[in-house]
Amino acid sequence: MVETAPDAQPSSNLAERALHQRIRQQEILAELGVSALQGTPFPVLLNDAARLTAEGLRAEFCKVLEHLPSENRLIVRAGVGWDEGVIGTASVGADLESPAGFALHTGKPVISNHLENEQRFRTPELLVQHGIHRAMNVILQGDGLPFGVLEVDSRAEGEFGDQDIAFLQGAANILGMAIERQRYERRLKAALDHQQILLKEINHRAKNSLQLVASMLDLQARIVADPTLGGHLAEASKRISAVGRLYEHLSHDGTVEKIDLGAYIQEICKDLGASGSNCEVHFEAENGIRFAPDRAIHLALIVNELVTNACKYAYPEPSVGHIWVNIRREADAVSVSIRDAGVGLPAGFEIAKAKGLGMLIATTLAAQLGASLTSTRQNPGAGFALLVPLEPPAPLDSA
Ligand SMILES: Nc1ncnc2c1ncn2[C@@H]1O[C@H](COP(=O)(O)OP(=O)(O)OP(=O)(O)O)[C@@H](O)[C@H]1O
Ligand SMILES: [Mg+2]
Repeated sequence: MVETAPDAQPSSNLAERALHQRIRQQEILAELGVSALQGTPFPVLLNDAARLTAEGLRAEFCKVLEHLPSENRLIVRAGVGWDEGVIGTASVGADLESPAGFALHTGKPVISNHLENEQRFRTPELLVQHGIHRAMNVILQGDGLPFGVLEVDSRAEGEFGDQDIAFLQGAANILGMAIERQRYERRLKAALDHQQILLKEINHRAKNSLQLVASMLDLQARIVADPTLGGHLAEASKRISAVGRLYEHLSHDGTVEKIDLGAYIQEICKDLGASGSNCEVHFEAENGIRFAPDRAIHLALIVNELVTNACKYAYPEPSVGHIWVNIRREADAVSVSIRDAGVGLPAGFEIAKAKGLGMLIATTLAAQLGASLTSTRQNPGAGFALLVPLEPPAPLDSA
């Protein structure tokens, strides 16, 4: 019969307990790593880290201290075990006399297993108030300046050892990496916000400059003696305004990829039917058609010409005429129709053969869009239909 030594049972229990703790510590480090990589919100991550670190070390207290250099203090940012009102408010000195301060400045881990007999440091008031006997501090650092310190504290008897400090340092390294990542993301976001502001500013300036050019042409149109020349100048001004409207949309949207086509063309129709014009433009568009800005400009200039023509020719002054502009989304294209109920197109009218600049602009830009442009005779009036593919045509030499 094998005799069991009287202390064999308790010591094997102790070893098993220690082994379980080490395994749990490994699990905790893995858990923390995943949480940090998943981009858990920063305050949640800090609290998780404090809770899991305390659990891994079977300690009642843990805290994440953030360094406030201007005050030379370390504020409790997150933690477990502390009385109400400590987190976010209480702080400890960041000087070399405090254990946390020492860890922060030297980067060396600090173990104090008997705070009451500690000669190297003074015991921070916060620890005294909570009856803490022993503590461990390690620096929290990514690539840049240290964020602060991760500290674990206990009231219980016993001692923290090398394995414990290794676990604490492991947790602090993971947290430090996550802090660095958060800082990087914040810097990236700030840079992106700055870019957005610059982009809006540039678009705003482009709009203002175009508006200035348009209004100068308008002014000139009004003072030239020749009415035909005045008419041409006024139309040139409208074309420039149409382009300017796009930059207005871009500066509002803060985007460069796609704009709301309906909203943009509606503005142009509004301008064309504004005071001084003999026509009323009725506009209708499906919501949510997004179009690349350069393609939207092409389309807007075509609509500008067709609506201008309808205003000019369909309703001989002084009568006020109605023009309908409709934008619909087809499967992979946008269909635009412009029609009036006026005198109708001249006999023998063909888009391709028209002599004016308006039709030339419309056909050239339609070709660049890969769009089809057709005219119809209404009863009464004239109609134009555009079918514009959503995506630009492939370049000819891409085959
Ligand atoms: N909605 C319409 N109703 C009646 N006639 C039209 C209509 N649209 C165009 N036309 C006719 O088509 C012609 C060609 O138009 P186009 O825009 O190419 O030239 P324009 O308007 O005469 O000159 P510009 O555009 O250079 O000022 C016009 O002169 C007009 O006779
Ligand atoms: Mg014209």
